Amino acid sequence: MFTVNENFLKLPGSYLFATIAKKVSAFQEANPDREIIRLGIGDVTQPLAPAVIEAMHKAVDEMSAASTFRGYAPERGYEFLREVVAKNDYQANGCDITADEIFISDGAKCDSANIQELFGLDSVIAVCDPVYPVYLDSNVMAGRTGLYNAETGRFDHVVYLPCTEENRFLPELPKERADIIYLCFPNNPTGEVITKKDLQVWVDYANKNGSVIIFDAAYEAYITEDGIPHSIYECEGAKTCAIELRSFSKKAGFTGVRLGFSVVPKELKCGDVSLHALWLRRQGSKYNGTPYIVQKAGEAVYSAEGKKQIDEQISRYMKNAATIRNGLIDAGFTAYGGVNSPYIWMKTPDQMTSWEFFDYLLDKAGVVGTPGAGFGPSGEHFFRLTAFGSYENSLKALDRIKKFC
Ligand code: MLT
Repeated sequence: MFTVNENFLKLPGSYLFATIAKKVSAFQEANPDREIIRLGIGDVTQPLAPAVIEAMHKAVDEMSAASTFRGYAPERGYEFLREVVAKNDYQANGCDITADEIFISDGAKCDSANIQELFGLDSVIAVCDPVYPVYLDSNVMAGRTGLYNAETGRFDHVVYLPCTEENRFLPELPKERADIIYLCFPNNPTGEVITKKDLQVWVDYANKNGSVIIFDAAYEAYITEDGIPHSIYECEGAKTCAIELRSFSKKAGFTGVRLGFSVVPKELKCGDVSLHALWLRRQGSKYNGTPYIVQKAGEAVYSAEGKKQIDEQISRYMKNAATIRNGLIDAGFTAYGGVNSPYIWMKTPDQMTSWEFFDYLLDKAGVVGTPGAGFGPSGEHFFRLTAFGSYENSLKALDRIKKFC
């Protein structure tokens, strides 16, 4: 008789955003006349930029003629896209990353879940607390963690790096062994950022201790302030200790299109073994390439028109972020994030737990957010709101929160 991967059984409940979606549909079903404003999952609402749509249409037409039709895409992605990514996202910012260090994928969620396959099961992972759940869940499924402790809300054999108000949501260096360190900046869920100087400390730590950093830069396009790194490769020595993940979902509204990439530098090695070679081998065996149409859409993000249109989209979301953040603070709430990030991390009122506040807000105000505890125990008493709704809905949600809390 077959057996199952028992590591899956260590996971408590369902995936955070699936749990929320289920609760919201049950509420909507019971209250069909209530208007719900969804500021929970970080899903975009603005349509794709015209330059992107035009490129997709053109690519669809190419697929209709034998002379321009394309089948399987190259395992690392088409060179036309890897070249513009290397040039615009890295070389233009002084980072020495070349097109052949870039692996195009169907998004940063999959990359952040899959990348752990490169490492031994005895490697110890370190994650921020609160954290984007995928890093942790994927390592649990792989068997790299111990059991879940319901009392602490933590898995055994995982190094948790608390990100709290006290440390301004910046993790401290681990005191115990940490082989694979997941960092996400601008941070999901807190919306807070790290300076280049502080990130350099992590790079130096990783190089000194033989650790690897998985740097999730999915939200870099939302950085508005100077001195905040867009890439970990802005730090000296990062190419020997860091993999970077990026997404077109938040940058260009591709949540439903699916496009992202990972950067695995050629200098990144474990002894004599190249991680770049391992990732190439992994992708070759397990991934059949991101569709041509999608990669052409991605290329258009870097055209002059595309850049202009996407900057406008991001500004609209950041106007929502400022409206929500400042509105909450003016009304006497404590709120963080929202300056270099589309996420606002508010403190729940009256010491409510984050799930109590979720239920209260849904019931009274018809507003959906994400309970901080869903991201880890240090997220308790916090609540995440996204700026990805419309301006009207952001204002409406703010008014309702002020009215009922
Ligand atoms: C989030 O809301 O944290 C993310 O958008 C979900 C995701 O990207 O998987």
